[in-house]
Amino acid sequence: MGTVFKQNGFVVQPTPGGFNLWVLNGCEGWDKESLQPRLEVLMSLVKSKQRIADHGEVFTPAWMVEAMLDLVKGESERIDSRFLEPACGSGNFLVRILQRKLAAVEIKFGKSDFEKRHYALLSLMCIYGIELLPDNIQECRQNLLEILTSYLGSDRADDVYWAASHVLSVNLIHGDALKMRTMTGSPIIFAEWGYLGKGQFQRRDFRFDTLTQSSAFSEEGSLFAHLGKHEIFTPIQTFPPMTVEEMATARKVGNDQEGLRP
Ligand SMILES: C[S@@+](CC[C@H](N)C(=O)[O-])C[C@H]1O[C@@H](n2cnc3c(N)ncnc32)[C@H](O)[C@@H]1O
Repeated sequence: MGTVFKQNGFVVQPTPGGFNLWVLNGCEGWDKESLQPRLEVLMSLVKSKQRIADHGEVFTPAWMVEAMLDLVKGESERIDSRFLEPACGSGNFLVRILQRKLAAVEIKFGKSDFEKRHYALLSLMCIYGIELLPDNIQECRQNLLEILTSYLGSDRADDVYWAASHVLSVNLIHGDALKMRTMTGSPIIFAEWGYLGKGQFQRRDFRFDTLTQSSAFSEEGSLFAHLGKHEIFTPIQTFPPMTVEEMATARKVGNDQEGLRP
């Protein structure tokens, strides 16, 4: 990544507070015209000094998001690869991941409206985030919803809009990734979604704290190494297959977790 940073005129330096601060690199002697655009980029990466101090809130610039996603290019362009951003902010990474997945949907299913809608929704279902600040998580959900619905050309009259809103309220958690708890103090639960075909989706829920122990359980010599993962990582809830219409109804009647207001 060092080369990418340098090419773009930035280096990363840890501040005494432990947070990363993007600083200008090698700009000594630059004129105002050269400096101005870079300063504007820097300003767009912060909301306030207080929020940086309190929550380490510094956003990643677009070029760096691209460069980092290119490191896992194949996965970022696969419709059903799962991504979790544990401090997702307003979704700088998640937005680009969704866009990359939707480009794959267009190539594979662009000709069939039915398949396109369902696989686009599946791409969204494979994106997860956790965020501490209420305005950021709300913005993140809104950003992702806008990308999906504008790709599908759907609006609030369309069930897929509400189904997507339902998925976002489930997958994008207002919580603390370190404590693995939501802001109301309950354990963070993630839904594993799958597409069964013919318009039906399946959902199984798992506790985040259990999932994070996955690699430890697989370690050689561990007490549990001989067990299959399915024996340890059992879902806490398995839902009956559901359609876009059923997810939309769940959202509209408010029968889901907190999220976008109808
Ligand atoms: C450095 S920003 C990064 C945002 C985004 N990932 C990006 O790259 O643009 C960090 C974000 O993490 C959030 N955050 C800080 N501590 C957190 C925690 N323990 N759990 C969840 N989110 C946290 C902050 O509120 C902030 O929005």
